[in-house]
Amino acid sequence: MTIATPTAAAELVCFNPACRARFAITEVLYNCPKCGGLIEAGYAAPDADAAALKRTFRDRRLSNSPLDQSGVWRYRELFPFLSDYSRVVTLREGNTPLLNAPIAAEFGGLKSIAFKHQGFNPTGSFKDNGMTCGVAQALRLGMRRVACVSTGNTSASMAAYAAAAGLEALIFLPHGNISFGKLAQALEYGAKTLEVEANFDQILALIRVLADRLGIYLLNSMNPFRVEGQKSIMFEMLDQRDWRVPDWVVLPGGNLGNVSAFGKGLREAQDAGLIHRLPRLAVIQAEGSAPFYEFVQSGAGEFHPVAKPETLATAIRIGDPVSWPKALHEIKSTNGLVEKVSEQEIADAKAIIGRCGIGCEPASAATLAGIRKLTAAGAIDRDADVVAVLTGNVLKDPDYIYKYHTGKLEAPGGVKIRSTYGNQSIVVPNDADRIAALLAQH
Ligand code: F0G
Repeated sequence: MTIATPTAAAELVCFNPACRARFAITEVLYNCPKCGGLIEAGYAAPDADAAALKRTFRDRRLSNSPLDQSGVWRYRELFPFLSDYSRVVTLREGNTPLLNAPIAAEFGGLKSIAFKHQGFNPTGSFKDNGMTCGVAQALRLGMRRVACVSTGNTSASMAAYAAAAGLEALIFLPHGNISFGKLAQALEYGAKTLEVEANFDQILALIRVLADRLGIYLLNSMNPFRVEGQKSIMFEMLDQRDWRVPDWVVLPGGNLGNVSAFGKGLREAQDAGLIHRLPRLAVIQAEGSAPFYEFVQSGAGEFHPVAKPETLATAIRIGDPVSWPKALHEIKSTNGLVEKVSEQEIADAKAIIGRCGIGCEPASAATLAGIRKLTAAGAIDRDADVVAVLTGNVLKDPDYIYKYHTGKLEAPGGVKIRSTYGNQSIVVPNDADRIAALLAQH
């Protein structure tokens, strides 16, 4: 069954409520030319009824068409910015599981918890959900070169999708502050990779200048099409729950693109009649890189970036998140909240997620650390229905894991992280009797 998509109604819109200037969907815009505000995609509401849409999404799971097999494009009526799907490049992104984790629930002070694990994506992070859309738009616009600055996952994802689409990929990384797993991916997928001696925020300013000068298409999360794709994480989660809305969706916050996407997707799902209430969004930041937490906490009008962000969760080592106005809107729209957690709290929560047989990268574990803090404070009920989004795969940062379990992990500033749930390997001789004796003792 196919449903007509109202592409004619798709346009780019300034996110600033005082401006709301509108532009053609095919313009290359990251900020509003009139007021400098963020840009988003806007559409008329889908022209199918909610029950028919739900049936279509479900039917597509049985299809062998690449577009339907994608856990992103399966929901394409909810982001109808393309008029022609023939050039979409999909690596079958999305399709990530919702996993129950009783040990993590207990640790987090909850009766139960479900992890929406985006680490099951083709390049191991949630970035693939947005990248397939960003690259589709690049192809539609006839772009030849795409670029991003990244703490590692965006670059790994962009490198893969650009390679699959036959585009040239140009990647800018903060030198010395990305995990080898992620750097290795960019190299393997053939991207031209530049390590800049600056942090994420400084490099973002740099590549905006370069993009204008060199005519490169930027695929950071201020690209509105990345956000459109990331909405599908919420659509798929709801579909997997037969559209039963959880009480809370908890996610880590760095550049704040993902929370912006989740909020927009949820509001639009409500407008389309797919759901009848919104879950509350909770964003968790690392203590040393928590400008959004401080901003929301202070209730002040001005946003103050953190000049020197620090955290071992390098994926979220960001001091000046571009999407904060969108993120603020989504936190307010969903009656959500923002929390921050320490390096020790992240490390221990991560080990617990590992003990569930699930595992994730450090930034993702900020979710469970935050949940533990929020249940202890009474902000989240023990009985609450909570979905936490694990943003990246356990193998993204093996160096961190090894150091944690061997007691060698140090927080920025040199403070030792306790190996609370440490698990060390034992070197043994090639001798059955001695190994049996050793195992008898443990
Ligand atoms: N978790 C992981 C594993 C990430 O890679 C990121 C962001 C986030 C959480 C935060 O998401 O920025 O949308 O708030 N990584 C970006 C990158 C910045 O370059 O890969 P956000």
